[in-house]
Amino acid sequence: MNILVTGGLGYIGSHTCVELLNSNYNVVVIDNLYNSNTKTIENIKKITKKDLKFYLGDVKDKLLLQQIFNENKIDAVIHFAAYKAVGESVAKPLMYYDNNISSLITLLTVMDEYNCKKIVFSSSATVYKETKKLPLKENSDKFAYNPYGNTKLFGEKILEDLYNSDNNYSIAILRYFNPIGSHESGLIGENIFDIPNNLMPYILKVANKELDYLTIYGDNYETHDGTGIRDYIHVVDLAKGHINALEYIKDNTVIDYFNLGTGIGYSVLDVVKTFIKVNNIDIPYKIGKRRDGDIAVNYSDPSYAREKIGFYTTKNLEDMCKDSYKYVLVNKINN
Ligand code: NAD
Ligand code: UFG
Repeated sequence: MNILVTGGLGYIGSHTCVELLNSNYNVVVIDNLYNSNTKTIENIKKITKKDLKFYLGDVKDKLLLQQIFNENKIDAVIHFAAYKAVGESVAKPLMYYDNNISSLITLLTVMDEYNCKKIVFSSSATVYKETKKLPLKENSDKFAYNPYGNTKLFGEKILEDLYNSDNNYSIAILRYFNPIGSHESGLIGENIFDIPNNLMPYILKVANKELDYLTIYGDNYETHDGTGIRDYIHVVDLAKGHINALEYIKDNTVIDYFNLGTGIGYSVLDVVKTFIKVNNIDIPYKIGKRRDGDIAVNYSDPSYAREKIGFYTTKNLEDMCKDSYKYVLVNKINN
């Protein structure tokens, strides 16, 4: 089976390419290298000892997509390509709507032209409305708090309308919780912005001595240690979830929604302390003010994904912390 992976050189995309190749799928990647580089192709090949086909370009480029569909019989698409920084989306909403929504529409238009009706879509836990009713289930209330969130919620709606117009489509919408970690080889991982927003990238910059200390945003939440709780999931477990989703839509014409998380919430301090313990490295931190827009606790109920598509996670917080740091160490050695 030939799978087109958009954004396949990015963080989650590259790990999914590894799992696809390990499961004997043929992989065709399109990526414009906005947040990735071609070294990742070599590293995916090194890990899997298999080849993939790469097209350099933008998913909004209809002619290029048509060329890809002409040159390859694409059976299904996994669509990762998007911008993902919440704060940036508030500052540059048009850039986000253009990239995340226009690319989806172009992609779906070309898929339709070539009668390719199977797609796995990267959505996010960000589509859920804030609630004290936890864990979050797929039918929990939805709300978008920023342009990035809107692009995910609209993306889901576009796919829903498409399915309602033609029941031959087969669509899996995956709502990721907080992916961290990297492949155990340390060869692929997350591209980190200069000053990261997310917790693990920030910890990694401190571990690498590029930043002096971590600021923990608030220690007076109603949680076991006062710091915010999230559902961190190892990116390799997350990547494997895409294989489960693909197997499911291969055999069914449906639209369905799946939480991909572990169902376990860890606090910021749990993560910091585990990172220090497993990597035997100090992470200096200070307690700061709460971050605007943050919620105290957020975690998934992943049981629907387990029952319906056989999704389960095997890696714990220690693995996540160890493997996250491995990518930094391996990159240091290779650079
Ligand atoms: P990433 O930035 O590492 O990967 C995205 C890849 O897509 C990059 O390689 C980038 O160069 C490419 N890209 C972006 N726009 C493109 C375009 N128009 N044409 C071609 N290539 C393009 O991001 P990621 O963390 O791997 O996220 C993948 C998907 O998962 C995104 O849709 C993101 O919104 C979603 N998601 C991510 C998280 C997270 O915490 N990482 C959480 C929830 C959802
Ligand atoms: N945190 C710190 N210090 C930091 C960074 C984060 O204390 O420097 C804390 C946050 O306050 C929060 C936890 O670490 O309690 C996790 O924060 P992240 O920014 O890593 O993750 P969020 O859950 O806040 O946000 C993520 C994605 C968003 C998405 C959201 C909801 O980054 O894109 O999940 O799904 F919208």
